[in-house]
Amino acid sequence: MSNHHDSLLAEGWLPLLTTRYMGRGQVQVLHEATSTNTLLKQMALSGAPAGSLCLCETQTAGKGRLGRGWHSPAGQGLWLSVLLRPRIQPEQAPLVTLCAALAMAQAVNEVTGLDARIKWPNDLVLEGKKLCGILLEIGFGGEGIDYIVVGTGLNVRRGAYPAELAHQATSIEDHMAPPARRELLVRYLAALEETIARLEQGGFAAIAQDYRARSCTLGSTVKVSGSEDFTGTAEDIDETGALLVRDESGTLHRVLAGDVSVRGVMGYV
Ligand code: BTN
Repeated sequence: MSNHHDSLLAEGWLPLLTTRYMGRGQVQVLHEATSTNTLLKQMALSGAPAGSLCLCETQTAGKGRLGRGWHSPAGQGLWLSVLLRPRIQPEQAPLVTLCAALAMAQAVNEVTGLDARIKWPNDLVLEGKKLCGILLEIGFGGEGIDYIVVGTGLNVRRGAYPAELAHQATSIEDHMAPPARRELLVRYLAALEETIARLEQGGFAAIAQDYRARSCTLGSTVKVSGSEDFTGTAEDIDETGALLVRDESGTLHRVLAGDVSVRGVMGYV
């Protein structure tokens, strides 16, 4: 249950916000939600401004990538969605995923000192186990992107993930006494505002160096599963956010999406 020392009520964190717009606008803090992404999407469609957010203590129908679910037990994590209306081209939308991963990795690192790494495109891992998942939902309008809902599920306490996932999931509490979730929230919102501004001004090139420095994928052996399956070495990320993987025959592949396993991470040996 929610613990009063770790409240997510807006009166506890709004005064700490250092942002211009991120985390402002319409702010919905709930005990229980079906999915914060679903709720925020509805708010986006009724005109909520960029920076609006929805967060809750527990989700009854938390959504993960690729149609999977997401465990969201009460008080154990940061189950959060933020609304963006970025001024970027529609084909740049996948880059927002990379921005969110970078912002969360920076926030975790700044608040806890832990070395959170990004598994391309957007999982955060700590010592090879998943700490945070990110799910983007994008709405297109007449003139391009109407809204992007960025949902993050950060495992703060050990109870965030079920025991049977302990071989591939982790939480901050598995490494240290966890900080108040509002500290992670405030730092994340600041970092997200900054990475999105950089993306709007300079494209991926503007965040590439910071993203690469936090990657646990570049330089590693990866297994790509999708329309074709192969193993290779992840060499770089291009300006569209695609992962460049050289297979064993020396051919370079541009991987846009799909499942990429990184050797040594989340159970791939
Ligand atoms: C993944 O599969 O890795 C993505 C998980 C994303 C979970 C978060 S929790 C807050 C937001 N609301 C949802 O329903 N999903 C995202």
